[in-house]
Amino acid sequence: MTTPAPVPVPAARPVKRRRLLKTALIAVPAVVVAGAGAAGIVWANSVTDTTGEVDFKNPLAVPPLAQSTVDGEGRRVFELTLQSGQRQFKDGAATGTWGFNGDYLGPTIRATRGETVLFNIHNTLGETTSVHWHGMHLPPTADGGPHQSVHAGNTWSPSWKIEQQAASLWYHPHPHGETFLHVYRGLAGMFLIDDEESAALALPKDYGLDDFPLIVQDRTFDGDNQFDESQGLIANVGYLGDEILVNGTHSPYLDVTTTRVRLRILNGSGSRAFNFGFADDRTFALIGTDGGLRDVPYGTDRIQLSPAERAEIVVEMTPGEKVVLRSYPAEGLGMDLFSSRFDGCDDSFDVLELRAAATLAESPAVPAELVEIPELDADKSAETRDFQISGFTLNGEAMDMERIDFAVRKDSVEIWELENFDSQFHNFHVHDVQFQVLKVNGKKPPEHLRGWKDTVHVKPGGKTRIIMQFKDFADPDMPYMCHCHVLYHEDQGLMGQFVVLDKGQKVGKPPKDGHVGH
Ligand code: C2O
Ligand code: CU
Repeated sequence: MTTPAPVPVPAARPVKRRRLLKTALIAVPAVVVAGAGAAGIVWANSVTDTTGEVDFKNPLAVPPLAQSTVDGEGRRVFELTLQSGQRQFKDGAATGTWGFNGDYLGPTIRATRGETVLFNIHNTLGETTSVHWHGMHLPPTADGGPHQSVHAGNTWSPSWKIEQQAASLWYHPHPHGETFLHVYRGLAGMFLIDDEESAALALPKDYGLDDFPLIVQDRTFDGDNQFDESQGLIANVGYLGDEILVNGTHSPYLDVTTTRVRLRILNGSGSRAFNFGFADDRTFALIGTDGGLRDVPYGTDRIQLSPAERAEIVVEMTPGEKVVLRSYPAEGLGMDLFSSRFDGCDDSFDVLELRAAATLAESPAVPAELVEIPELDADKSAETRDFQISGFTLNGEAMDMERIDFAVRKDSVEIWELENFDSQFHNFHVHDVQFQVLKVNGKKPPEHLRGWKDTVHVKPGGKTRIIMQFKDFADPDMPYMCHCHVLYHEDQGLMGQFVVLDKGQKVGKPPKDGHVGH
């Protein structure tokens, strides 16, 4: 087991671009004072704010629950077909899209802890892709990463036993270098896990009645109403959209019929951080993070999510009222003025209007205690690893499908120190496990980062320390991924591969042409 040695930061492309941008913008205050100049216009136009401008005229789509059958071996079987289609998001032309079992996004998959699931994934897209189960604890051969690509016309049938607590996970493609586009075109869906503990809690849990997934995505439509797939000109994070879709609905509203609603929010954007809160700054209860329910609810008026992070919240409503869920400018991300502006962190959006009926069914109060979360013990850590995040590289190297970057031992607890060497926005996601955040810049993590996480933001110039345990699924040849979930960064190579080894095993080799299915 080796800890990657510190490597000098290479002059990656975005670093250069950022320097140029800064140089160009140093003159901004003078130009703005003068009231003219291209730099001033670029600066002013680079902030997006849709608050107060969204007409909330479309009922929020709720993704249907995926149909399933139980086969002779007791496995819950789902069929997922990746297909292209069209969706009428707004007035004018329909938009060309991709989806699972439909034209945009996918059905919500639901399974219970202890069940074995089997998916038949049919790729009818005409190009190679994959389907990854984000946040799932499962064998690397079923993970759906870049080594499990499914060629056009093929069907892949992964199966595994669900062995983790109730959680709001999600699924999306993960083809090497193409993840952003495939997700952007519409391939994403929720994967909800249930268990006995969550079923016994008095939380809103009637899907589509008082319990709703919110897949929040930014998109830009071009003049023909098609998704603009060109790269953002000056954003270091890649593409930033200027309009919001929730569950594929543009300008959505949601009719609320109970005094409390549970929202399972997924930041399904490729590059954008959201800082969710309500227009009247009401407090809501944060009940769950990426990997499941928290130990106790946390009352807050904002929840910030970087790409791929999830939050489960419970919001109280009074009869007849309307309130808008917004995304506010980012807070506490430690961004400098320029990066913040050009990475979209100054933007604001109206996301969804909640409309309460004149009379509401009474929901029980949110329980004061939710689930038990065993704290991983830092003293038991077998290894501390450093991860230097910079430009499009992890520890100085871009992703190489044939290179396994490191190995962890099955059953071991490890501490990973994530360090952002840039002034720009990055986060970090680990496959296979849920982790706990130990420290953010040497301090106790903020309350909203307590509990199980699989993705976490890493501040510019900052360090985030996480702890995790690799309990199962040793496989010397088939790696798991760890990477920045800013999909543009991931696609450009900000990703590494690791294997889990059993006693006596040595690091092997990933299969050459890692495609699966037939
Ligand atoms: Cu959401 Cu490596 O993925
Ligand atoms: Cu990044």
